[in-house]
Amino acid sequence: MFDRRALLAGVASLALTLSACGLESDASEAGSGSGAEGATVGVAMPTRASDRWLTDGKSVVSNLKAKGYKAKLVYGDDDPKAQVAQIEKLIEEGVSALIIAAIDNRSLNGVLKKAADAKIPVIAYDRLILGTKNVDYYVSFDNEMVGRMQAHYIIEKLGLEDGNKGPFNIELFAGSPDDNNTKYFFAGSMALLQPFLDDKQLVVPSGQTELDKITTLRWDGPTAEKRMSKILAGYGGRQVDAVLSPYDGISRGVLAALHSDGYGTAAKPLPIVTGQDAELESVKSIIAGQQSQTVYKDVRQLADAAVTVVDDILNDRVPWVDNSVGYKNGVKAVPAVLLQPTSVDKTNYDVLIKDDYFTEDELK
Ligand code: GAL
Repeated sequence: MFDRRALLAGVASLALTLSACGLESDASEAGSGSGAEGATVGVAMPTRASDRWLTDGKSVVSNLKAKGYKAKLVYGDDDPKAQVAQIEKLIEEGVSALIIAAIDNRSLNGVLKKAADAKIPVIAYDRLILGTKNVDYYVSFDNEMVGRMQAHYIIEKLGLEDGNKGPFNIELFAGSPDDNNTKYFFAGSMALLQPFLDDKQLVVPSGQTELDKITTLRWDGPTAEKRMSKILAGYGGRQVDAVLSPYDGISRGVLAALHSDGYGTAAKPLPIVTGQDAELESVKSIIAGQQSQTVYKDVRQLADAAVTVVDDILNDRVPWVDNSVGYKNGVKAVPAVLLQPTSVDKTNYDVLIKDDYFTEDELK
């Protein structure tokens, strides 16, 4: 795993400045660590509309603080232009490194050129930034594996490999078209689902199977709800048996459409609905027997990995990477650190409590 080098002692307490969309908070009690003294790291997160990104932001800042850095945290509120302006400002303010979870992976070329000119290293956080050489490292989960876990769950629960021939009705949802992860999740899922579609054990009644037909701009739940409602309106007497959803917010939108269409009764049971991120609302939904599954990614580990890379770079060490050839962004292969996700359903959600991701009380 990571090459966690002994921390150098002696960095006295440093002030931590948190700047989250105009909210300035001062946490003066910084931990001691190996941080190049006084260095400030800019952290650009995509949205506050989802639990996970709040946890990411908080965790990155506290990991930076533990290593003796200052942090400036900004959220782009799902507006690509606003994110570019925020990053520009961080560069002008003289940050020593940037950790960026892109909103639109192709909108950052101009601003990253400015970062490169100012010799500011850039870490693509969770989402790979495309079309530029000015991105130094990529830190994420194994995103194809996420897609495979979602598909595997559907295959297992429908018994497709256990002689249960179907045909079963499935509908497919994908993430935001401007997020590079979307294609990894979809590719991972389809690698497992395609053979069952080919031999008609699985059928897609809407006929919408191509990625460009099934994406969900900005991963927006209400957008997914609308698309699902439209699909169900064309179902006639059929019932849907499974919905491939790549993210909990989309899953909740899909479930809302299903409920409006009368699903959730003995005669019309809810289909299998997958998800991702182990968001609190969705974990509760899983426990209540609504959403079926989610993919848990401990983003506290992701934050730790990103900060370790930054700390290595700023201390002239070569960061540990898991894959230096596979994550091509159209211009170069970006060296990648990849963490492993975990599939979670009603039978094993206690892993979230064991990991202290949620307390037992929070899940009640
Ligand atoms: C993706 C990320 C997912 C999910 C989604 C919506 O980039 O990998 O875990 O969070 O964004 O926020």
